[in-house]
Formats: sequence, C-alpha cells, structure tokens
Amino acid sequence: MARVLVTGGAGFIGSNFVRHLVDHTDDEVTVLDKLTYAGDPRTLEGLPENRVRLVQGDIADAELVTPLVAGHDLVVHFAAESHNDNSLSDPSPFVDTNLVGTFTLLEAVRRHDTRYHHISTDEVYGDLALDDPAKFTESTPYNPSSPYSSTKAGSDLLVRAWVRSFGVRATISNCSNNYGPYQHVEKFIPRQITNVVDGVRPKLYGAGENVRDWIHVDDHNAAVLRIIEAGTIGETYLIGADGEQNNKDVVELILELMGQPRDAYDHVTDRVGHDLRYAIDATRLRTELGWEPRFSDFRSGLADTIAWYRDNEAWWRVQKAAAEAKYAAKGQ
Ligand code: NAD
Ligand code: DAU
Repeated sequence: MARVLVTGGAGFIGSNFVRHLVDHTDDEVTVLDKLTYAGDPRTLEGLPENRVRLVQGDIADAELVTPLVAGHDLVVHFAAESHNDNSLSDPSPFVDTNLVGTFTLLEAVRRHDTRYHHISTDEVYGDLALDDPAKFTESTPYNPSSPYSSTKAGSDLLVRAWVRSFGVRATISNCSNNYGPYQHVEKFIPRQITNVVDGVRPKLYGAGENVRDWIHVDDHNAAVLRIIEAGTIGETYLIGADGEQNNKDVVELILELMGQPRDAYDHVTDRVGHDLRYAIDATRLRTELGWEPRFSDFRSGLADTIAWYRDNEAWWRVQKAAAEAKYAAKGQ
C-alpha cells in the first residue's frame, strides 16, 4: 500500500486515474486540486472516503505543497491548464500552473526524495504533415506550437533537469488525445455530443482535416500505472493506441451514432496556429513494459462515451453555457 498524491485529480484524466488506483491497488490517495473551472469535486463522488481525500489548493503554493508532499510516497502530476483555445485567449494561467506549479512540485519532491511521475502531452513535439508517414517517438525534437503546448514542453524540460541535476526519481509520459467519461465540455468530443443533445449543430474548425490520435482515458491511465510500477527512472514513455482520425470523420461518426444526418454540422473559424496532425509510436511502452490498449475499437468507445454523456447530463450541464459563451465570442 502506498500513499499517493494525485494533482489535478478532480479533472478529466486525473479523476479517472484515481478511480483506476482505487480499483487496481490498495493505495491511499490524496487529490490536490485548485478546483478551477475545469475541476469539479462531484467527479470524485462515490469513491471510498477512507481511501480518497480532496485537498483544495494550488500546486504553485509552496507553503501548501511542501508539507503535503512529505506525507506521500508518490506524486502523480496531472494538474494543468489543459485547453489550447484558452491558452490563445489568455496564456497567463498556463505559465503559472504548468511552469511555476511544476517547478514547485519538483522542489518539494527533491526535498523529500519522493517518487514523481509527470503527465504530459504529445503536443510538445509540434505537429506532423497530413501526408507524412512518420509518428512521434521518444527522440522526436521538441517543437511546441501554442502557449499550452510550450508550457507543457517547458515543464517536461524542468523534470529532465531535476532528474539529472538533483537525482529526482521521476518518469515522464507524453500521451495523445484522450476521450471518455468526465471530460470537460470545452473539449472537441464532449462539446459535439452535448451540442447534439441540445439540438445544436456540431462545430468543426476550418475544413476538419486535422488529425488527432485518440486513446481511451482508461488505456492512458493503465499505461501510467505500468510506467510507475516498471518504468526506468529518468526515462520518457510515449502513450498512444494507433487511433488516428481526422476531425471531420469524428464529427460525422458522433452524428451517426446519435441518430442524426452525418452532414448536420457547421464549419466555424479555425483555431489560430492549429496543429495539423499528431501520431504516436508507442513501441517502447509496448515492448519494454508490455502495455497494450484494451479499447481498440474507437466506434464502440465513442458509443459508450455518448451514452455516458446522455446518462450524466447533471454533471456537464453546469459547465455548458460558460464554455459555449467563450466560443461564441470567437465565432467558434
Ligand atoms: P483538465 O483540464 O480536465 O483537468 C485539470 C485539473 O487540474 C482540474 O481539476 C483543475 O482544477 C486542476 N488544476 C488546474 N490548475 C491547478 C493548479 N494551479 N493547482 C491545482 N490544480 C489545478 O485536464 P485533463 O484533460 O484531465 O489533463 C490532465 C493532464 O493530462 C494535463 O497535464 C494535460 O496536459 C495532460 N494530457 C491531457 C490530454 C488530453 O487529451 N486531455 C492528453 C495528454 C496529456
Ligand atoms: O494531444 C493531446 C492534447 O489533446 C492534450 O495535451 C490537450 O490537453 C487536449 O486538450 C487535446 O488538445 P487538442 O487541442 O487536440 O484537443 P481539443 O479537444 O481542443 O480539439 C481536438 C481537435 O478538434 C483539434 O484539431 C481542434 C478541433 N476542434 C475542437 C473544438 C473544441 C473542432 O474542430 N471543433 C471544436 O469545437
């Protein structure tokens, strides 16, 4: 049994990770979460109170973080400002949380010699051309595009430096686009599902040719646990499940699965600097650590996700109007 501190555990991937830990380990979990617009304590409802507790606070607050880390064997760092569109409107919280927050955690785990796993994104590598057969690997050079991805890239580099300079016991994972339950309605797939529920046509940026490499959140989290258990300190592992789809195909599949005509969507203003394509080569994770995805059928994973949003309207409804107001202001 370990005492695990999960930052950002009231958000999408972090909360699913907490459920994964409860189901697959005997660990006791502390969630440290600022409960920004993206964090919701209701996401942790139903978890056993003797194993999961929530501390509301900022990862950039050293006075809170340093003693909190002392009582734990492992820190798994999910907390971030996570949405590209928001980073284009106001980069400031991205610098505070993704860079200063990660620095604050690294100083705390250095002081207490605590094992640390850093959650990051494939966006640190920039984008690939649509017709390029290449995929990202652990040795692809960093080339981030947006304020979001550049602050995530910076946070990864801080981790690498703290490993080499101070001997911090850290691993890093960079994953592709996640989908599944409890994802905020600002993100592509939940936005379109909840639009259809509301009788609103889905919104596709530009021509919709941009490609994302979709992975179910449970496959991401199983890989994270595997890396924590068996990964090599100081190393980076890419997580992906060969799920490349262009945005147009995803919108059309959502419409079909929700009983609508496949062309019942609108093209809207494109994202500034919109990355074209992400694709992950997860060979290292598969061969060295023996991880395999369980959700290999995107169509059925998406159908389950649609069912989850239909069944859990009370959870997402409170976020929907504010998310749509931000998009409306930008013609999206
Ligand atoms: P999310 O936006 O759903 O959740 C982020 C959580 O962090 C929220 O609960 C929020 O309240 C919390 N938070 C934000 N700032 C904080 C601060 N200063 N202190 C404490 N808590 C704070 O994000 P997500 O999609 O679950 O992403 C989680 C992590 O996974 C991020 O590091 C992100 O970069 C990474 N990632 C996401 C994806 C994806 O597809 N969503 C893919 C790869 C990697
Ligand atoms: O690749 C991993 C990244 O995936 C994570 O690091 C980020 O935290 C996560 O938000 C996600 O980034 P994206 O920018 O790829 O995800 P998003 O859901 O915002 O958009 C997915 C694609 O859909 C992207 O090409 C933009 C497009 N899009 C998005 C929205 C919200 C639309 O066409 N219409 C929309 O309404």
